[in-house]
Amino acid sequence: FLCFIIITLVSPSSSTLREIKTKENFRFPKDFLFGTASSSYQCEGAYLTDGKALSNWDVFTTIPGKIDDESNGKVAADHYHRYPEDLDLMKDLGVNSYRFSLSWARILPKGRFGNVNMKGIDHYNRMINAVLERGMEPFVTLTHYDVPHELELRYGSWLSPHIREDFVHYAEICFRYFGDRVKFWTTFNQPNVQLILGYRKGMHPPSHCANYFGNCTRGDSYKEPLVAAHNIIRSHLAAVYLYRMKYQEQQRGKIGIVMNSIWYEPVSDSLADRLAAERAQAFYLTWFLDPVVYGRYPKELHDIVGEDLPEFTTDDLKLSKNGLDFIGINQYTGEYAQDCLHSACEPGKGGSKGEGFVNTNALKDGLALGEPTGISWFHVYPQGMEKALMYVSERYKNIPLYITENGFSENGTGISLNDHRRVKFMSNYLDALKRAMRKGADVRGYFTWSLLDSFEWSFGYTLRFGLYHVDFDTLERTPRLSASWYKNFISKNNAQS
Ligand code: NOJ
Repeated sequence: FLCFIIITLVSPSSSTLREIKTKENFRFPKDFLFGTASSSYQCEGAYLTDGKALSNWDVFTTIPGKIDDESNGKVAADHYHRYPEDLDLMKDLGVNSYRFSLSWARILPKGRFGNVNMKGIDHYNRMINAVLERGMEPFVTLTHYDVPHELELRYGSWLSPHIREDFVHYAEICFRYFGDRVKFWTTFNQPNVQLILGYRKGMHPPSHCANYFGNCTRGDSYKEPLVAAHNIIRSHLAAVYLYRMKYQEQQRGKIGIVMNSIWYEPVSDSLADRLAAERAQAFYLTWFLDPVVYGRYPKELHDIVGEDLPEFTTDDLKLSKNGLDFIGINQYTGEYAQDCLHSACEPGKGGSKGEGFVNTNALKDGLALGEPTGISWFHVYPQGMEKALMYVSERYKNIPLYITENGFSENGTGISLNDHRRVKFMSNYLDALKRAMRKGADVRGYFTWSLLDSFEWSFGYTLRFGLYHVDFDTLERTPRLSASWYKNFISKNNAQS
């Protein structure tokens, strides 16, 4: 009997045992996708080659003062011409997937008001074939911020309900020409960031701003991001519906959307700050995902924005059943959230009505959440990866998830080839991803941003996210330490499976 008591006392409980066992046994599933991610405007260049028309970004980058180093994506990393070499680099890393976006203005230079540009179609057909020939799965984004300029001119792109017809027309052409080989589609890349920067802060096209003054055109009102979001959600639903009705059964692909996630940690334990963190998610992430999955905006948006929130029609709601096969999450960073609804926040940091009255850049004891990188929006907080995955997983009934982006940059052009901080970053974030998987999140892939240094939107070429350094004069690619680290990580994980 004494023996029994001693054994019981010194043995770990069964739940601890289970955890240890799963820890030891953790394996990425055999078909887990490891990849790198990119987008057309940021890396392709060839901005008027083979019949491509101007996109909103081609035009926006000509406005003085918009891009930190006054640069643009006219040449970028010249991926349009150098993709075979770049795909070889990916193959050498051992990745089994490549996430990239198509340039809408290359395929439909004038949107639905003109013809399909067959040279653009031929280009992407060659590229998709080249991806497959190297044993990689194409993971294709239909639109990663860039829209034919024509649609901006004609009706103000995302501010108009007409954009839905254009988007569906474009999606159909992509499904028709590429869907026999593309098994992973995403409609939009982080529309939350696109709209906040484009319609609230004036930092992306069409450069409207609501609460901020400076080098931007004052937008109509704080409602613009809400209206544009509504049009994006309706465009997404209509494209998914078309895919389901006409293409999915035959082509056997999956379709989803990619959202940016910031993990919002309440700045204090108070109920008000905890609710503020929840509100911050509602005004950022679930703003899009709730309507697509559940056919309604989050309650927090209704409570604050009230009747300014556009409404879905009965037809929209029919389409929204089953509006996703998976969710893509771009996860980089976290922030403290502070309530500004019930108590005064520092002026200007309270967030407007359109931001849910949350200060999403709050400091605790003078410090932001996580480790600073030198880039204002970016703090290293790997726990945010685990928490965000669990949050999305729980809210959306364990839907399949992909980390469609995660990567590291410091400020400055000269980030060395010995990028230890990037290696540490990736390693810690991948550990956090594994923790979420152990807890049951159905994560099916991880894409690092990015294979190459590329045009980083309003930061131009001043931020470098590449596993490969790009010399933008000679376009030479040189591996950083992180390239061999990622290669080794993938091969170890493949060997285990
Ligand atoms: C997310 C965006 O999708 C991508 O375009 C950007 O380069 C990375 N974040 C890094 O900021």
